[in-house]
Amino acid sequence: MAPDTHIGTTAIVTGAASGIGRSIADHFAAEGRAVLCADINRAGAEKVAATIIKDGGHARAVEVDVADEPSVQAMVDDAISWTGQIDALAANAGIMAEGSALTLSLEDWTRVMSTNATGAFLTARAALPHMIDGGGGAIVFTASTVALAGMKGIAAYSASKGAVVALTRQMAADYADQNIRVNAVAPGAVRTPLSESHFRARAEDDAEFETLLEAVIDRYPLKRWGTTAEIADLVTFLCSDRAGWMTGQIIPVDGGLLELR
Ligand SMILES: NC(=O)c1ccc[n+]([C@@H]2O[C@H](COP(=O)([O-])OP(=O)(O)OC[C@H]3O[C@@H](n4cnc5c(N)ncnc54)[C@H](O)[C@@H]3O)[C@@H](O)[C@H]2O)c1
Repeated sequence: MAPDTHIGTTAIVTGAASGIGRSIADHFAAEGRAVLCADINRAGAEKVAATIIKDGGHARAVEVDVADEPSVQAMVDDAISWTGQIDALAANAGIMAEGSALTLSLEDWTRVMSTNATGAFLTARAALPHMIDGGGGAIVFTASTVALAGMKGIAAYSASKGAVVALTRQMAADYADQNIRVNAVAPGAVRTPLSESHFRARAEDDAEFETLLEAVIDRYPLKRWGTTAEIADLVTFLCSDRAGWMTGQIIPVDGGLLELR
């Protein structure tokens, strides 16, 4: 097994208070990285950082709104004053809103695009100069299978993740010669507060909610939900030297959904 080259390196994770982001933070910490746990939910981020520290890792919590440029800049400044470097970035924070083109409010469209698309852009843009100064780095965006295949009723969310996919390729092309690798993971359904709220919004009551959750599994060839750890494993791999020749990739982790339908 190759020696662990991550000890002493620094990773930022946005959306670290919950779900997939929480798992990414835990995985980075287990590799020996110092992890900046960033989230709009300060108390949640503090809890995750405290657990990592209790388990012997290095972590720090920071409140950020990824849709707000000064807030994102303050998050990056915090990382730099903490360890002096940013080696890996998981730009993962995201939200969802229900609605197709005719039912979605402009307010919801703007809110989702601001967090998911503009937020990914602002986060990566703020980290880039420090990665370039440090001789390179790795950025992984959390996209979604809905950026690669249609799904009813989530127009803003799908469009925002489509923007993330295009941004991944664009930034990978623009910064490859500065040794910055940019990739994206495209998860299928993973049971988290975000996915549960989506089905909650469609269900009349608890019984229908449970039925909808079960129906999800039926659509997946592997007949189960993905786990946050399965997404986090790929994110941390893509940030590692083992993925040193990978950039511009959009990788589904989806129980076979996209290829085997
Ligand atoms: N769960 C799924 O099925 C699924 C599938 C595909 C993609 N994703 C993507 O994975 C990412 C993580 O989602 P999750 O399922 O873990 O959801 P989650 O709701 O469990 O976690 C999202 C986190 O992002 C934070 N956040 C929201 N808005 C923010 C903002 N403006 N600034 C900073 N933090 C903010 C929330 O506080 C929360 O902690 C999202 O980008 C989501 O779109 C999730």
